[in-house]
Amino acid sequence: MVEPAGDSVLAYLDYNATAPVRPQAMEAVLAAMREAGNASSTHRSGHEAAARVTVARRQLAELLSCSPGELIFTSGATEANNLALRAAFSAGGAIVTSMVEHPAVLETAKHLTRQQSDLLRLVPVDGEGVLDRDAFHCALAEGGAALVSLMAANNETGVLTDLGPIVEAAHAAGALVHTDATQMVGRLPIDLAVLDVDLLSLSAHKFGGPQGVGALFVRRGVQLPHHPLIYGGGQERGWRAGTLNVPGIAGAGAAAEAAHYGMADESTRVAQLRDALETALVEQIDDCRINGTAARRLPGVTSITFTGAPADAVLAAMPDVAASEGSACSSGAPGPSHVLLAMGRSREEAEATVRFSMGPGSTGPDVTQAVTSAIRAVRKVRAALSAPV
Ligand SMILES: Cc1ncc(COP(=O)(O)O)c(C=O)c1O
Repeated sequence: MVEPAGDSVLAYLDYNATAPVRPQAMEAVLAAMREAGNASSTHRSGHEAAARVTVARRQLAELLSCSPGELIFTSGATEANNLALRAAFSAGGAIVTSMVEHPAVLETAKHLTRQQSDLLRLVPVDGEGVLDRDAFHCALAEGGAALVSLMAANNETGVLTDLGPIVEAAHAAGALVHTDATQMVGRLPIDLAVLDVDLLSLSAHKFGGPQGVGALFVRRGVQLPHHPLIYGGGQERGWRAGTLNVPGIAGAGAAAEAAHYGMADESTRVAQLRDALETALVEQIDDCRINGTAARRLPGVTSITFTGAPADAVLAAMPDVAASEGSACSSGAPGPSHVLLAMGRSREEAEATVRFSMGPGSTGPDVTQAVTSAIRAVRKVRAALSAPV
């Protein structure tokens, strides 16, 4: 629960948009901000700033079971995705990705292939949001793929991608593999010593770090031409110029460590809250449907369609609950969710879908409040729409 400025308590169920900052991350940010210091400076203050970055790089590397030197700090997952796709595409070849990726991958892939649209191969998903394996293998079989980029977990439905076999097939076809793991990092284990992806993107604000900081993992030994988005002083081994965001990076590292430490218990607890929410909503609201329910999903995410009740009206009718209409990241783009449309939902169904997402600070009372408010809101919206004019 979060105490808002007004008089009602807000049940915050929008962790996929951004997670509340963990206390450990807040401390690390403040500690870094109290000291002046550019991590590139050669005096003592510079060394202290650089030491904070080193600690954070190690904390993040431990979370992912990779080497600290394989991480490039960025401004977030959008930048990491852009860097990964640009670098892999510049080597020549096609991009294989899915229809349900975040716009940070989809729009980048479309932009890169704008002169030659046959170099973009979009793989569909089934009605549960699971990647169509046959279509994926067909896309590889066309030959000439430079990169396979598939998300680890979908931001709208939480549906997980079974990356192991995908990596194997992609490598056998000579393609590099990138995964946008923004929604999975810090929530479920990722072991890069086992999962053989070449590139991985993450964002600190999804696991309790500050907004505006993320990282790109580039596996040691993967030969990629640098295609920086920002030219300048050559920081981050030339991948990402500009003074390092020391407070943000320190906060990201502290959040990674905290998420790592509590992950097993936390994911079980959050999955129980999610199940309680879904059971209560489905039992008490007629004509609603959970999207992706039969698939393997992230623990804390529910995408639910309240047939006949547009999500914008439902959300407006429950101001004591923070949830999202489709995905907050793409809410600047008008129109129904491309993810739900790709899953075969109609435009009306997609527009009647709300996403609740939970995490470490979520509680049983949050779920109770969300259920009570959602029942009231959906009934109110449906009644208003069916009332004679
Ligand atoms: C799957 C996915 N990728 C990328 C992003 C963009 O991350 P950032 O906010 O760090 O740019 C998001 C944000 O919600 C996301 O969910």
